[in-house]
Amino acid sequence: MPATVIVGTQWGDEGKGKLTDLLAKQVSMVVRYQGGHNAGHTIVVDGEKFALQLLPSGVLYPHVTPVIGNGVVVNAEELVREIDRVTARGIDCSRLKVSTNAHLILPYHAALDTLREHALGDALLGTTKNGIGPAYADKANRVGLRMQDLLDADSFAVKLRSAVAEKNAFLTSIYGADPIDADELIERYLTTVVPRVTPYVADCVALLHEALDAGEHVLLEGAQATFLDLDHGTYPYVTSSNPVAGGACVGAGIGPKSIDRVIGIAKAYCTRVGTGPFLTELSDEIGALIAERGHEFGTVTGRPRRVGWFDAVMLRQAVRLNGLDEVAITKLDILDTLDEVAVCVGYELDGRRLAYPPARTDEFARCLPVYERLPGWQVDLTKCTEPHDLPEAARRYLDFLESQVGVPVSFVGTGPGRDQFVHRVV
Ligand code: IMP
Repeated sequence: MPATVIVGTQWGDEGKGKLTDLLAKQVSMVVRYQGGHNAGHTIVVDGEKFALQLLPSGVLYPHVTPVIGNGVVVNAEELVREIDRVTARGIDCSRLKVSTNAHLILPYHAALDTLREHALGDALLGTTKNGIGPAYADKANRVGLRMQDLLDADSFAVKLRSAVAEKNAFLTSIYGADPIDADELIERYLTTVVPRVTPYVADCVALLHEALDAGEHVLLEGAQATFLDLDHGTYPYVTSSNPVAGGACVGAGIGPKSIDRVIGIAKAYCTRVGTGPFLTELSDEIGALIAERGHEFGTVTGRPRRVGWFDAVMLRQAVRLNGLDEVAITKLDILDTLDEVAVCVGYELDGRRLAYPPARTDEFARCLPVYERLPGWQVDLTKCTEPHDLPEAARRYLDFLESQVGVPVSFVGTGPGRDQFVHRVV
């Protein structure tokens, strides 16, 4: 009953979709375990590019059951739009399952997210304004509505009316915003959302365990990444869920012993969208070149991503936090034209050398990166598909990352296409 977790090890956008695509052939189920439509997973299948937000990438493979687990927050109107978008491109979404226990993101969540960000001014978190944080807050506060509430129209209307009343008090008195019309919202949900999404609502824990018991291979697909984790990331500049591998247990309903492989995904450099500390950030022409060659713009918000060197200190911490067995390095080809590449191998804090990030955020922000510089390869990697195709300097870079991070580099992305990768034998 093999279960594999795929987890981002930096600040998101590591290219998890590419690895999912490689593994999809072997799996019968792909489960999203946290986050919501703040995620943007780009997957190229048979030359066609799909940008998925809420749908698990398994939806693109006819032999896979795609599952939205209980740990995900679902904007059901967005879900309908996304289903329609991919259906129009010939993808059959009928196999989709959405957990009865997944919480709903409702319009007041996005309104509150947006208003709060605005009120924070320069101290804003840089969220996607999709209502992720307010929806998880309601879940923790035990006032959230769940997918299963959509199954009973009368009680849904009662619960939504009461939630809107509370949120309206907040929207109007704290933020001076317009109230939400509960009648209009209930009517809209009952007529346009409920009939469309209820066919997908299922007991996903039971489905997952039936698959595992039948010896099928399940992929647990993380969104966002380790350093956006609510507990382990650079708080408060984080998302409101637990992308780390442990989050897969909670957000899908599986015990840790059922997970037998954890794959971390890291870019050959590092990017971050939104605010928060970024020790290896490059504000020079090298950063601009990497951003341009790597098309570093957010899939969801279109915002330019901040770019910096690979940070092995963060990766070492990601190995610990997720119990990584291996790392897949993506976008190595983006560094092709550089004559030198740098890797952050340690931090310096008040004259002390650190091998792991300090636990205190203020100390983390004060750390100075210590770099090792390696020669670049200045060779086009996009045709490399075997380890021996890689030039000596690129192999040395990968070996160096491996030695710094402490786990093998098992896959290397050398271009956006499905076949542009090198599988290094572990
Ligand atoms: P939220 O998840 O919308 O609350 O945003 C919180 C932080 O996570 C912000 O810095 C976002 O830019 C970041 N974030 C959320 N989802 C993603 C993602 O899929 N990739 C990269 N960053 C993300």
